[in-house]
This record gives sequence, C-alpha cells and structure tokens, in this order.
Amino acid sequence: MVNQDILIIWIKYQDGKPSEYLYSPEILQRLDFNKSPAIFKPKISAAQPGEDWMVVRPLQRSDYDKGFLQLLSQLTNVGNISRKLFDDRFTKMKQSGGYYVTVIEDTRVGKLIGAATLTIEQKFIHNCSLRGRLEDVVVNDTYRGKQLGKLIVVTVSLLAQELGCYKMSLDCKDKLIKFYESLGYKMEPGNSNAMNMRFDDPS
Ligand SMILES: CC(C)(COP(=O)(O)OP(=O)(O)OC[C@H]1O[C@@H](n2cnc3c(N)ncnc32)[C@H](O)[C@@H]1OP(=O)(O)O)[C@@H](O)C(=O)NCCC(=O)NCCS
Repeated sequence: MVNQDILIIWIKYQDGKPSEYLYSPEILQRLDFNKSPAIFKPKISAAQPGEDWMVVRPLQRSDYDKGFLQLLSQLTNVGNISRKLFDDRFTKMKQSGGYYVTVIEDTRVGKLIGAATLTIEQKFIHNCSLRGRLEDVVVNDTYRGKQLGKLIVVTVSLLAQELGCYKMSLDCKDKLIKFYESLGYKMEPGNSNAMNMRFDDPS
C-alpha cells in the first residue's frame, strides 16, 4: 500500500467512523501540478501539500463541525445555517454531481483553513461540453501568505481539466487579477465583463 492510500484511509476513519465525502478523494491524488503555470516555492501539490498536518480533500459531511461555515464567513455573509440545512444542501450537491467543494484541513486542530469550489455546467454547445466555474475561494486569515490560496485554486483548476472541462471561469475583485493571472487565468479583451442582476431577499 502506498502512502497516499494510507492517507485516504486515515482521513476516512479519523474519528473512528467514516465521514462521507462530497466527491471521491482519489482524483485529487493524481492531479499533475506540473501542468499549472503557478510557481510554488517550495514545491507543493494537492497530494503533497508540504506539511504532514495539512490535507487537501473534498468537503465532508462532518465539516459542519470543522469550521467550514466560519471559514466561508471570511469571504462573505453566510447566514445562520443549522446542521439540518447544511446536511440537506450537502445531499443535494452530492446528488446533482456538479459540485466539487474542496478544502484544506489543519489536522492538528481539526479545522478547515482553506476552501474553493469548482462547479460544472453541462452544455449542449461545443459537442455537449463541460464548463467549470471557480467559486468561493478563501483561506483562513491566520494562514494567508503561505501559498495556500494558490494551492486550493490550482487544485480545483486542475480538477476541472481532469474532469474534461473545456474552460474554467471566475469573477474576482480587481486587486486579485494578478493573483489569478499567475495561476493561468487570463483577461480576454472584449470578453471579460462580469455582470450581475441582484434580487431582493430571495426566500
Ligand atoms: C485571496 C486569498 C484566497 C489568497 O490566499 P493566500 O493563501 O494568502 O494566497 P497565497 O499565499 O497563495 O498568495 C499567492 C500570491 O497572491 C498574492 N495575493 C494574495 N492575496 C492577495 C490580495 N488580497 N491582493 C493582492 N494579492 C494577493 C500574494 O502576494 C502572493 O503573491 P506571490 O506569489 O507573488 O508571493 C486570501 O487572501 C483570501 O482568502 N482572501 C479573502 C477572500 C477572497 O477575497 N477570496 C477571493 C474571492 S475572488
């Protein structure tokens, strides 16, 4: 058995009982970080994040208790989400199959310290292709500046490629354009406007 297999088994059974993944974790172990233009110093990857207390993995149902929602609240307003609501949303995301919420855990303290989501749109165009979207990127503020933002974004971007997407898109604040450019994203002149229509109080 290789180290990666042992790691996956350990993650699954760390609390003595299996915790359900949103998607299969094995795919993250085979992502080839050499395909990304991102420069990591020192070199790290989803399979080998550089510290033995750090794991890059799919979201688990039990992550409600590992600070996932508190982490997201460093990105935007999350609201008051009960365990039942979280559970129902997790189930729906899993059933739909197009949600790849990916996290970094600090296993020393059992807390999530980074997250990003790949969502996949099924298309008719381009021969029934798939398009990826990068959403909800966040690193816990006490862990920033240590390559974890790059690590989680490159992980889900390579995942999109591995799953057969023809492109991956994102919306971001102006100040983060350089960050995403260093990871392979490009402004496309004449085709780079993000527009939104916001609705009052959706119930
Ligand atoms: C953006 C964010 C995920 C980056 O995480 P991080 O772990 O600090 O990023 P890294 O350590 O991997 O930094 C990668 C590079 O991006 C740069 N960078 C990081 N955050 C930046 C920011 N807010 N503004 C400008 N540059 C930034 C770093 O200086 C670094 O550059 P270098 O490689 O030349 O040294 C993190 O700041 C965050 O969670 N911010 C709040 C939520 C947010 O804005 N999310 C993005 C929504 S689009």
